[in-house]
Amino acid sequence: MDMENNGLENMAIDVNPPKGTRDFPPEEMRIRSWLFQNFREVSRLFAFEEVDFPVLESEALFIRKAGEEITEQLYSFEDKGGRRVALRPELTPSLARLIIQKGKAVSLPIKWFTIGQCWRYERMTRGRRREHYQWNMDVIGITEVTAEAELIFAIVTLFKQLGITSSDVGFKVSSRKVLQAAMQQCSISEHLFTKVCITIDKIGKMEMDEIEKDLASSGIPMESVKTLLHIVSLKTISELEEVLSDQNAIVELRQLFSLAEHYGYLQWIEFDASVVRGLAYYTGIVFEAFDRDGKLRAICGGGRYDRLLSTLGGEDLPACGFGFGDAVIVELLKEKGLLPALPLMVDDIVFAIDGALQQMAATVASTLRQKGQKVDLVLERKKLKWVFKHAERINASRLILIGESEWQQGMVRVKNLSTREESNVKLDDL
Ligand code: HAM
Repeated sequence: MDMENNGLENMAIDVNPPKGTRDFPPEEMRIRSWLFQNFREVSRLFAFEEVDFPVLESEALFIRKAGEEITEQLYSFEDKGGRRVALRPELTPSLARLIIQKGKAVSLPIKWFTIGQCWRYERMTRGRRREHYQWNMDVIGITEVTAEAELIFAIVTLFKQLGITSSDVGFKVSSRKVLQAAMQQCSISEHLFTKVCITIDKIGKMEMDEIEKDLASSGIPMESVKTLLHIVSLKTISELEEVLSDQNAIVELRQLFSLAEHYGYLQWIEFDASVVRGLAYYTGIVFEAFDRDGKLRAICGGGRYDRLLSTLGGEDLPACGFGFGDAVIVELLKEKGLLPALPLMVDDIVFAIDGALQQMAATVASTLRQKGQKVDLVLERKKLKWVFKHAERINASRLILIGESEWQQGMVRVKNLSTREESNVKLDDL
């Protein structure tokens, strides 16, 4: 081994993070922490418990043969032990795995939330990256739409907490049971259901004739394709009521809207039959939130997935939840001027005027920290001028100077940096 450089080659590396991923320098990290704190506060207001899973999971957890985008974008590889593993693209399969693992040991209903990084090999657009963080809240064990209503209200509560109103953002709500009933009415085979959902989800992202062709290519007669596309274009439940013979979906949707009225968030939600969501596992109510200006991609999305557990080898349990990303919301907050300034906040800066007093400065810093003050201790010899500049940069409120003569009397010099007032203060009175 080359002892000169410990075997390391001298090679300039690319200082940028891999394409589609982000660094979080302090100013970005402050925004992220602030956002996550809001996620946690809302989750706790709703009495959800926090859970976590590994970012690296077995690839099998994410293999679904429905032709979803998410499986095509999987970051997967073989580890050194020859196991097929993947960076999770979403959190729901991990949650399902843990529920199956816990079996009868957990009492229902389960109300869990999690915040975690997800990886998708995406084509990048505004607010879409190859790595993002998601806040998820899920309810397991409830069949009624009371669960969906509660989850949507949790998201509304977050929006309100961030200063976002119902004129900035709206939810589009539907149920996969609408499409299911429509397909039945057109005598389309049930086994095409997932494929049809995934294609319908592309409305707005793909040309309409492409959608038609795609549906027809599965063997659906053009007449039925037209009927399906007419049904998913409906924007009111009453219109839907007129064309659907199976009223099951309508009953649920009406219950949800009635609950929304009682919670007081009716103005946030609207029915839109074209919302089906692009993930294979949804079975009932589905919803997405959008900025009303229509500039950004979905802010969050979720729905009911009552049959996911059995596809992973477990026993099915009724389940619903949502995923809320960290990217689109920050774009929206910036656009609306709602992102708080979030400066670094320090209470005290402690500085020894004389190098010989550095140990005393450490004692003072330690005493103040015990009292809960945020203290920046100057660790090297600096000029007082530098300390003042530094204090300004880190938004310190007070400067505590340790000088020989004051120290002899058990005192330190305290300067209030906003009023510029100065006085000698006894150590015990700090
Ligand atoms: P999803 O719609 O795939 O659902 O993702 C949920 C949210 O994650 C999106 O609305 C968006 O905010 C964010 N997101 C997704 N992909 C990206 C990306 N490439 N870059 C930035 N943000 C992104 C799910 O993942 C479901 N597992 C949610 C769920 C939980 N359903 C039930 N429980």
